[in-house]
Amino acid sequence: MDKALQVSAIKDGTVIDHIPASRLFDVISILKLYKNKEMITFGTNLDSKQLGKKGIIKVANRFFQGKEVDKIALIAPNAKLNTIKNYEVVEKRVVEIPDTIVSIAKCFNPKCITNHEKITTRFSVISKNPIELKCLFCEKITLENQVEII
Ligand code: CTP
Ligand code: ZN
Repeated sequence: MDKALQVSAIKDGTVIDHIPASRLFDVISILKLYKNKEMITFGTNLDSKQLGKKGIIKVANRFFQGKEVDKIALIAPNAKLNTIKNYEVVEKRVVEIPDTIVSIAKCFNPKCITNHEKITTRFSVISKNPIELKCLFCEKITLENQVEII
């Protein structure tokens, strides 16, 4: 089988791989990649043994950390972040969902106070696979396919 890459290799930057195909544009949006000035290449609906169809994003000269990685984990829990230096993969990180989520997700409950007043959202992660977030204000559960990032 020909091992040609479906999206060209990059010299320096980050390859976010193994994104569920349906979440590719959400990852672009939460990382505000539409504002990025460096080269970005991406592909979606690529064949993946693990996910069936996957998405991939390659961002030149950007290296993600902290909250940005937590946000990726929430919408693409199986994503792998590959750090590329001089064409080599020098680090491979599996994103990890933290035990508590502060400020980055929206509560699914339309009646929740966090959706009506300027209050920072807080959740405890009661399940990581599939993701289930329990709101500390209204105690309602937001499920993986309902997670909206703010
Ligand atoms: N990659 C890239 N540019 C480079 C090196 C690697 O875009 N200069 C991409 C590869 O195309 C791949 C990802 O970075 O999508 C990770 O590379 P590698 O670890 O070599 O690939 P795999 O072993 O297939 O990764 P995994 O096991 O995570 O699927
Ligand atoms: Zn709530």
